Amino acid sequence: MNKNILVLPGDGIGQEVTASATKVLEFLIEKYSLDFSVTSMDVGGTAYDQYGSPLPEEVLSSAKEADAILFGAVGGPKWDNLDWDVRPENALLTLRKELNLFANLRPAFLFNELSEASPLKKEIIENLDILIVRELTGGIYFGEPRGIVEDKEPNYAFNTMIYNEEEIRRIAKVAFESAQKRNGKLCSVEKANVLEVSKFWRSIVTEMSSDYPDVELSHQLADNTAMQLVLNPKQFDVIVASNLFGDILSDIAATLTGSIGMLPSASLDSSFKGMFEPCHGSAPDIAGKNLANPLAMISSLSMALRYSLNQEKISDKIDEAIKKFIQVGHRTIDISTDDNYLMTSDVAEKIIKIINND
Ligand code: IPM
Ligand code: MG
Repeated sequence: MNKNILVLPGDGIGQEVTASATKVLEFLIEKYSLDFSVTSMDVGGTAYDQYGSPLPEEVLSSAKEADAILFGAVGGPKWDNLDWDVRPENALLTLRKELNLFANLRPAFLFNELSEASPLKKEIIENLDILIVRELTGGIYFGEPRGIVEDKEPNYAFNTMIYNEEEIRRIAKVAFESAQKRNGKLCSVEKANVLEVSKFWRSIVTEMSSDYPDVELSHQLADNTAMQLVLNPKQFDVIVASNLFGDILSDIAATLTGSIGMLPSASLDSSFKGMFEPCHGSAPDIAGKNLANPLAMISSLSMALRYSLNQEKISDKIDEAIKKFIQVGHRTIDISTDDNYLMTSDVAEKIIKIINND
């Protein structure tokens, strides 16, 4: 059956890393005779510059039609002073919301060969394998009312942190089920010592735990989790958190593994259609220099094949190829300990070669 894949490179290194992933995808389509069609469109600041909108109508409608979306990254200093309505980041949030991509899976695992690249000691991070399940379409990032009031003395600004019961249940379900498929441990993270919304979150997750007797549930306060992630990250298996806390904690978790340039993510709706993006951003400081590590994007392609495109075996092939790539000593600048590193555009070629030689 024909599947539609939409590629949205976006801004900065988003362009370079999606070019690499697309190269791998095109090779896989050819090699395994996959019935996929691939379309690419502008989004973010790049779309704003051309069309005056970071998410033109046709992009949103193509995204709704797509079976899977490969998303690079958006944003950059050039667009930092725009109103929220037309900011590149708004395109990403609107896509998540409009497509109902409430479940964001952010795996953080260490390739032991890269332990030198981690800021933490080897014994703390060796064999690290965590999954952060972040709620992605609710909470303070979307809560209404929100705004900046500039005609009062003093002026003020406000946002609303809000979750309804259903939103908490559906993300907790994904987290409990993920824990069942992994090591059976789930840590729910919030600030129940301060926030009503967190107290409510904790009570619902606790109530649900009786349906998952095989999962060991714990609760942690978000500030403590930030500390625990650098003190003793291997205590975690699956972490579930709201949009805001999940955003912050997933950056910490990613860094533990040596480079945020290694880690993919999947944002899924209830039927497992989804958008797949690296955890890193647009990295304006290295954009256009052919220095970015495209492995997070290539690994996101693997997640797309696994979750949305029904191609688990091919997904395994990509994962194995990335593993081998690291094992044989290939490095990009972010994970290299010397001056010997590959450029972005060399990586896809090596990955393709590894898959071909298998
Ligand atoms: C992420 C990013 C986004 C977010 C930004 C770019 C809006 O930080 O995907 O983690 O805050 O969700
Ligand atoms: Mg983030």
